[in-house]
Amino acid sequence: MDWKPDRQDKKAIYKQLAEYIENGIADGTYPPDKPLPSERTLAKELNVNRSTVVAAYDELESIGLIQRNRGSGTTISKDIWGITKKRIPSWNRYIEAGSFLPNLPITQRIRKEAVEHKLINLASGELSEDLFPLKYLREITSSRSFIGSLGYDHPQGNAILRETITKHVKQYRNIETNPSSILITSGAQQALHLVVQCLLKQGDAVALEDPSYNYNLPTFKSTGLRPLYIPVNEDGINPDDLLSLYKKHRIRMIFLNSAYQNPTGALLSEKKRRAILDISSEYGIPVVEDDPYSLTSFTGEKVSTLKSMDANGNVLYISSLSKIVASGLRIGWIIGPTPVIERLSDAKQQIDFGHASYTQWVANDFLESENFHSHIQNLTKQLEMRRDQIVNSLHFYLGDKVDFSIPMGGIHIWVKINKEVNEVQLLEESIKRGVIYVPGYTMGSQKGFVRFTFARENEGAIDEGIKRFAEVLATFKIRS
Ligand SMILES: Cc1ncc(COP(=O)(O)O)c(C=O)c1O
Repeated sequence: MDWKPDRQDKKAIYKQLAEYIENGIADGTYPPDKPLPSERTLAKELNVNRSTVVAAYDELESIGLIQRNRGSGTTISKDIWGITKKRIPSWNRYIEAGSFLPNLPITQRIRKEAVEHKLINLASGELSEDLFPLKYLREITSSRSFIGSLGYDHPQGNAILRETITKHVKQYRNIETNPSSILITSGAQQALHLVVQCLLKQGDAVALEDPSYNYNLPTFKSTGLRPLYIPVNEDGINPDDLLSLYKKHRIRMIFLNSAYQNPTGALLSEKKRRAILDISSEYGIPVVEDDPYSLTSFTGEKVSTLKSMDANGNVLYISSLSKIVASGLRIGWIIGPTPVIERLSDAKQQIDFGHASYTQWVANDFLESENFHSHIQNLTKQLEMRRDQIVNSLHFYLGDKVDFSIPMGGIHIWVKINKEVNEVQLLEESIKRGVIYVPGYTMGSQKGFVRFTFARENEGAIDEGIKRFAEVLATFKIRS
């Protein structure tokens, strides 16, 4: 505790202390549901006589701010509103009243555990540090001087980067576009958020994949949308399901993670892509193609994005550098008809006045350099090795206790556990054993799945992680 009495002050020390505690109650230093320190503890901490603390507590008790309870110590009174002169905002009520919903508690927990503890991290959907092209990025930042404005940039993002992305998506994703149809965003996440916030309204029905990254994203619920789910098979959703959903609910938009889907690894087949685009054109349903993974093919296959087949401008195409360069750059983009892009960039201006110019410059120079191509080749090789490792470890330690499809790209594997277990408990026990993953029920409606990410750890750690998971699973009794 930093507080010290001011011994020069004419005010008695017990009064100073009473005021300090009153302020602490008002600003939450002393939360209402926790006992105050005992008189002896506080006296020791503050290096004052115990009688001073007793007098301060007497003062606070006399105005009804605290209570002394036999056996359970000194607590803050239940109804202190109006007693203290300080007006205490009811923060909990504000927190609960905000229109923007928080993440699921389990999602918050996984993120916190993964960051704060040294666990084998098969949960975070990102590359490990050693897969970032740090060497090349350092070359850019150390050998060339920053050529950009440090002022607020164009609302759609840096013009040079948008020009580069135009060339990049043509070369790697077969997409024809131009810089005025592109908005640079803070990752794919912000692009999704802007679409939901700006183009849809309360009550609109939207189609999401089940399971999917979007399945439980609070942003869909915060806006009051009605998410409806379409099951994902090995080659993506069934277009007939989309059609019948549209006929029943007049869905206003469909969100697809078309290549190496998070979490299933599914690659939407070309036939299905065409069928979905046909439905989209016939009924005027916009498709949001979220595509952070298409460059991570292990077969060398060049994925035909939906956007590359979109002759009529029905597709809003989202991508980012998070899964192929570095998630911390926070560089993503959305491509769509210019009026839509202008609408979204106006909103982005309101939110953050545009993307940081420095990381846009780094991203631009890396995308432009010859190193980008060799980086992607090396990255996919490394990811493929990690994919092979997790597949081998799953076979070795779990055998027929699990089922899964082998992903041909991306960074996730979706594993079905062949016995019914308490999924919450399984995660808790796994965390205790030092391994963390994403339980399937946070990403989809079906029971008994887990998502392992194989990009965040090296082969040794992947093997150890699956071994520990298998040991934990073996301790679980089959549920009756
Ligand atoms: C399918 C999908 N979309 C969007 C994102 C958001 O990524 P970012 O904002 O880092 O580009 C992720 C991250 O896991 C993802 O898997």
